[in-house]
Amino acid sequence: MERILLEYPEKEIALITLNRPEKLNALDTKTRMEISSALDEVEERARVLIITGKGKAFAAGADINELSKRTPFEYIRLSKYGTWLNNRIENLDIPVIAAVNGYALGGGCELAMACDIRIASERAKFGQPELNLGIMPGVGATQRLPRLVGLGMAKKLVFTGEIIDAHEAFRIGLVEEVVEHERLMERCFEIAKTIAGKPPLAIKMAKRALNATRTMGLEDGLRYEVALASLLFSTEDAKEGLRAFLERREPEFKGK
Ligand code: COA
Repeated sequence: MERILLEYPEKEIALITLNRPEKLNALDTKTRMEISSALDEVEERARVLIITGKGKAFAAGADINELSKRTPFEYIRLSKYGTWLNNRIENLDIPVIAAVNGYALGGGCELAMACDIRIASERAKFGQPELNLGIMPGVGATQRLPRLVGLGMAKKLVFTGEIIDAHEAFRIGLVEEVVEHERLMERCFEIAKTIAGKPPLAIKMAKRALNATRTMGLEDGLRYEVALASLLFSTEDAKEGLRAFLERREPEFKGK
């Protein structure tokens, strides 16, 4: 792969690093295709995925150079593909943590929002500056940003194109934690290891139920939760977890 690095630095934890720092990891089609094929492997091999960027950006948005050469008809495919990829990340069977190391603008912010958890370095910066270019967000921001920060704040960010720092992003609920830049990866791996120690089927079902809040109303969502929780209750890991508590020992989860 040319645009990304795929590594497994810890047992069952995958790390994707966007690796075109000289272009601030701008997301062109090649990058998105490489992420897509990495996801197919990661979903099989890992229990948690961390996505970060090399250099001073997480990703500074869609590749403006590529965008400028596309016809309106070709843009439809770009927008659909980026949207498909972000949905694929959001619906991956394992949790995805965005380790936001620097600029997360436009498509970069949209990519971070498709991840399950966002941890930001104090150097991170967020924004949806598309309107400054005469275009608008096209791979998720108008839908995911309001769900994270509320409709009014999302409108303010999209309409003004304002770039905000990590502390403001935390204040409005766009990121879950802000850490010193040097501690970013350490903290992300700490969270990833905690998650990797949980029963994988329970993580998978819980993620599905939580994601259902995006598409289901409360009543349907509650029914879905009952169905998934009941299914999970029949697993060996559920028996093991309950038994281990009563026997005052650590559980040994097998993913069955
Ligand atoms: N697409 C393509 N190339 C990009 C890019 C993008 N979204 N963002 C940055 N780059 C490139 C620059 O063209 C430059 O390339 P060059 O050295 O070959 O000229 C390189 O990355 C470094 O960027 P530069 O602008 O010189 O860095 P900076 O520190 O002065 O500014 C930003 C950083 C993030 C403020 C600025 O790059 C920027 O505004 N980028 C675009 C953000 C954006 O509008 N994203 C939404 C796109 S839809």
